[in-house]
Amino acid sequence: MSETCNILGIAGSLRRESYNRSAMRAATELVPPGARIEVFELDGIPGFNQDDEQHPPAKVVELKRRIRAADALLFVTPEYNYSISGVLKNAIDWASRPYGDNAWSGKPAAVMGASIGGIGTARAQYHLRQVFVFLNVYPINEPEVMIGRAAEKFDGEGTLTDERTREKIRQLLQNLVDWTERLRPPEARASFSFPSSGAIPF
Ligand code: FNR
Repeated sequence: MSETCNILGIAGSLRRESYNRSAMRAATELVPPGARIEVFELDGIPGFNQDDEQHPPAKVVELKRRIRAADALLFVTPEYNYSISGVLKNAIDWASRPYGDNAWSGKPAAVMGASIGGIGTARAQYHLRQVFVFLNVYPINEPEVMIGRAAEKFDGEGTLTDERTREKIRQLLQNLVDWTERLRPPEARASFSFPSSGAIPF
């Protein structure tokens, strides 16, 4: 049993200067001691076709392997037309198939997202949480990290400069580590648990 909490990070935008990719980069720096985030990029995954689900493309095989190897998941989602992006849903669908071989099942997860609008991907995040029900993913509830007006919170290099948002991400990751530890069977519990300092209010 590894003493590191290995978190697989998945951002739902392919855009080069994506705020969500930048938020994922920030998360990799804000992760608590005893945990680390490895990012899986969704570029190059073809559109899901159920005809191919028994013989998925190599990138999907790799995605499923990485999900299964991870202790926990971090989703960073943009909001497209009040929902998650197509590329994120497409990756979710691939890795959930074929029926009975759902790689997501049983994984602890955290969600955050950035948008240029004021609501900061709230609608997309609640859609994603609905999808988690059928995937059998176990999300943490708080803090909700909804990064609205993203253009004001990242600098020209894509660095997250808003200290309050950085603190929320720090707390989100701490809570994810604690939750992951709680979901482990007692005999498999490792030493990466740290006391949570509570929720950050809006
Ligand atoms: C958007 N955007 C957007 N923003 C939002 O707050 N709510 C929404 O429903 C939508 N819908 C939407 C649809 C499509 C197709 C696009 C391309 C964009 C704007 C979105 O927040 C903005 O483009 C972000 O910059 C996207 O995230 P990344 O690529 O910066 O990570």
